[in-house]
Amino acid sequence: MTKLMKFVMVALLGGMVSVSMAATKEEKIAERIQPVAKVCVEGDTSCAGGAVSSSAGPRTGEQVFNAVCAGCHGTGAMGSPKAHDAGAWGPRMSKGFDKVLANAINGLNMMPPKGTCADCSKEELGNAIKFMSK
Ligand code: HEC
Repeated sequence: MTKLMKFVMVALLGGMVSVSMAATKEEKIAERIQPVAKVCVEGDTSCAGGAVSSSAGPRTGEQVFNAVCAGCHGTGAMGSPKAHDAGAWGPRMSKGFDKVLANAINGLNMMPPKGTCADCSKEELGNAIKFMSK
């Protein structure tokens, strides 16, 4: 049995309790929005939360978006540019990607620093922005 499969078994049996002391807020959000008994195929980095992604390199934009940014950008809550809405993202992206990324890292008005994803790398935030803005 692989390490990943054991993790998934423990996660399912233990209800994700105390699997990882390092569980982040974002992972908890991801858990909450995931189906309870999701089958995780080895090598699929889109499941089993950070336990997989931390060893499998940066998360994709879609993963970060679904786990963290969708809370606001999924609906355009609080005046945030709605994901995949070209009209909302166009004027923002025209400032230049680096500027928009810097605003995402530092926060902007109601947009919290790093969009609340404290453990997201610059690259992962960039991936999420690219995913949302197209
Ligand atoms: C709590 C709600 C909330 C969450 C969560 C959130 N955002 Fe935002 N975001 C906003 C709001 C509101 C704005 C609009 C800010 C403004 O222009 O006043 C915004 C704007 C942005 C912008 C545009 C910045 C610019 O220069 O115009 C980017 C990029 C962005 N968010 C990225 C992200 C990413 C990436 C995530 C997830 C890691 C995320 N946001 C999560 C609320 C949120």
